[in-house]
Amino acid sequence: MLDRLVLRAEREHRLDKEDLVSLLASPECEEALAAAADRVRHAYVGDGIHLRGLIEFSNICRQNCMYCGLRRDNRRLERYRLSGEEIVMLAEKAKGYGYRTVVLQSGEDPYFNVERMAGILREIKKLDMAITLSIGERSYEEYKAFREAGADRYLLRIETTNEALYEKLDPGMSYKNRVRCLQDLKRLGYEVGTGTLVGLPGQSLESIAEDILFYQEMDVDMLGIGPLIPNGDTPLGDEEAGDFHLTRRMVSLLRLLLPEANIPATTAVETMVKGGREIILASGANVVMPNVTEGEYRRKYALYPGKICVSDTPADCRGCMEGRIRAMGRYVAKGKGFRARTLPQ
Ligand code: SAM
Ligand code: SF4
Ligand code: FES
Repeated sequence: MLDRLVLRAEREHRLDKEDLVSLLASPECEEALAAAADRVRHAYVGDGIHLRGLIEFSNICRQNCMYCGLRRDNRRLERYRLSGEEIVMLAEKAKGYGYRTVVLQSGEDPYFNVERMAGILREIKKLDMAITLSIGERSYEEYKAFREAGADRYLLRIETTNEALYEKLDPGMSYKNRVRCLQDLKRLGYEVGTGTLVGLPGQSLESIAEDILFYQEMDVDMLGIGPLIPNGDTPLGDEEAGDFHLTRRMVSLLRLLLPEANIPATTAVETMVKGGREIILASGANVVMPNVTEGEYRRKYALYPGKICVSDTPADCRGCMEGRIRAMGRYVAKGKGFRARTLPQ
């Protein structure tokens, strides 16, 4: 019965909420789901895996999300902020390693105002690279200025579409403003990425199913899904970790329902399960974001404990990922890796 549902989703790219909940709740259909998602991934986005070089340029944050080590009340974190020149230099190095996209990620750090950010974007744009921003909530005007200065994509996870839960876990932030940001980004012509933090205390399977339908309704371009990894320096330090297998089933369902999306195997899955990225890449995902941040800063960008690659160099990560991808019988995609568009709009 569930296997028939999986095959139907593979053919029609549609499931209703009840069916999604049944599949999310069924570890016994995980392999069938992953196999179907892997076929859809092959058919729609091919065997190439896009590598995006991740630059973690500031761990200073004005927000106070209950799960995140960068939250403003965490006094145990040594804070840092790279200069514009350092950020551009890291982008140049990323280009040297063969990356065609850089992802600029940070806490919500107001120091990086429109003027500073636009200057950095214009410099990086000269390198002929695609640029993804992941710097949190801003106004329509700011997003517009970043877009005009050269940003192509934007990652802003909704974390959960349960409004009450969202506002409890991201105190001082409003769900409506989060959705407004995603809509503004779409209107401005960004490729928009969002996603779920799996295993938030109080999150139900119904709520995860609603997240999936929300992403399909918004027709988002990128989907980052990761399990919660409790951080002892945050109020959620004693909570249970998110479930790797539930995360995997969610990734597979997303591939079935949004066949053209770019879906990363996130750092959090590898932190939780060694070899987790390969498992997720074989279950519907087609993107990896290796770290190109250097030295001490990797360790200090401490969202959660046990983060991988903190003592590795950008060259280590590049070589490591290339080897792993080849060992899977896949290859590193050339080009900037924009979203595939084959389905009728
Ligand atoms: N500040 C920006 C924002 O919130 O969109 C970008 C950086 S933020 C650190 C990137 C993502 O890290 C968040 O969307 C959240 O899902 C994830 N994250 C934070 N704390 C985490 C934790 N303890 N376990 C797993 N993921 C976490
Ligand atoms: Fe700041 Fe983003 Fe962490 Fe929230 S998730 S505390 S906005 S860095
Ligand atoms: Fe960093 Fe493997 S990806 S060492």
